[in-house]
Amino acid sequence: MFSIIVLKLCHCIYQWSNPKCNGKLPPGSMGFPIIGETFQFMKLHDALQFSAFVKERIPRFFSLFTSIHGPVFRTSLLGGKVIISMDNELNMEIAKTTRIPGVPKSITRLFGDNNLFVQSIESHKHVRSLTFQLLGSQGLKLRIMRDIDLLTRQYMEEGARKGFLDVKETLSKILIECLAKKVMGDLEPEAAKELALCWRNFLSGWFRFPFNFPGMGVYNMMKVRKRMMKLLKDLVLKKRASGEEFGEFFKIIFGEKDGGKETMSVENAIEYIYTFFLIANETTPRILAATVKLISENPQVMQELQREHAEIVRGMTDKEAGLRWEDYKAMTFTHMVINESLRITTTVPVVLRIPDHDIKVGDYTIPAGWTFMGYASVHFNPEKYEDPLVFNPWRWKGKDLSALVSKNYIPFGAGPRLCVGAYFAKLLMAIFIHHLCRHRWSMKADTIVTRSYMLMFPHRCDV
Ligand code: HEM
Repeated sequence: MFSIIVLKLCHCIYQWSNPKCNGKLPPGSMGFPIIGETFQFMKLHDALQFSAFVKERIPRFFSLFTSIHGPVFRTSLLGGKVIISMDNELNMEIAKTTRIPGVPKSITRLFGDNNLFVQSIESHKHVRSLTFQLLGSQGLKLRIMRDIDLLTRQYMEEGARKGFLDVKETLSKILIECLAKKVMGDLEPEAAKELALCWRNFLSGWFRFPFNFPGMGVYNMMKVRKRMMKLLKDLVLKKRASGEEFGEFFKIIFGEKDGGKETMSVENAIEYIYTFFLIANETTPRILAATVKLISENPQVMQELQREHAEIVRGMTDKEAGLRWEDYKAMTFTHMVINESLRITTTVPVVLRIPDHDIKVGDYTIPAGWTFMGYASVHFNPEKYEDPLVFNPWRWKGKDLSALVSKNYIPFGAGPRLCVGAYFAKLLMAIFIHHLCRHRWSMKADTIVTRSYMLMFPHRCDV
């Protein structure tokens, strides 16, 4: 009996280490059963460099930056089989031709099974087009910019009175308040407070232990998610029953705008909103905080920003009236800083897909059903960016600053799953930098930015 169990176990381990494939798998190791190489992948590393995990596995790439098919390896992460690619051409090809999102099951659970982003192509197209009505550049200009400006000004003044503010926390509050209003409309203060609390309760670093064990990251997140979904549903149903007005977003979704028709069930709408907030809140505040840190370490950049924003303020006829779209467009250097920060902080995969058919890459095969993770290796290629590890906003001078994606720049991914919040994220960051630069400021000296997939700030990020 014992020998049968041992034999079975050995067989399972062999199968785990040597997965089936209709061809030759890229080199690499599958690590321990189930856990794979998750812990090595999640190990804290310098935020402005790729992790040792990828560097060790592709030494040839890091010494030569060759672009032949090759810098690709296999592994197992977060309970799934994964192909990691540093090959820019391959990443772009997969980004453009593959539509299924590459989020491992352990993480998809957080977003919900009915989530329209992970369902059919049609529902995916539909939610993207709805989102663009609100968060495309026209939607931002008409509907959102004023709110962001007002909220940022309020929080900045409050911080100035207190003598400090935490950049990540503050942007998170601005983002949640701004989106909650656009989505839900006016809320009773108690409901608004609880909603904000739920979002802010997401444990930072939840990604570091993505298995659903009691007391750990994903498990706790699932509890918060449950509470949040109930809260959202109750709010929507209550508003509907009492005939209260929704925010723009639900109006679009429920067909209350321009004689449209209802395009989504309440359940789907809630899951959609939840995902949307979660992604927005886990990305932009962290990237902004890292950007502020980069600015604070580069006095010339800080000086140029102060000059640009002082000029914008001088050009305002009514200083209390707030920023106009033209002011935002005139923040040329600020856009250069944001582009550069997004380039240099993109040290995690940006193309996350699951191919629905086997893909040949030179001698190797990327099997259908595996998760493909493409890194923005091109951002660190010295042939494309001179001294790629140096933060140098001036390298963007004369370039098209509004482009979200190009063949050498993919902080927001590419193809049919290009980030839907990209314009919004850039607007939030620019307005925050504008108001910060209207004050004298410095960042606390002990601020550290590291990465364990997410950007982390172990000593907060106070200015
Ligand atoms: C600086 C901040 C942000 C960065 C760097 C970022 C980056 C990304 C990346 C790399 C992807 C994957 C694209 C792909 O697979 O090709 C993505 C997708 C997505 N992002 Fe963002 N994002 C940011 C902010 C936001 C914000 C503020 C929102 C919401 C308001 C948002 C909502 C989404 C959504 C919903 C998707 C999935 C799109 C789809 O599957 O069609 N993101 N983002």
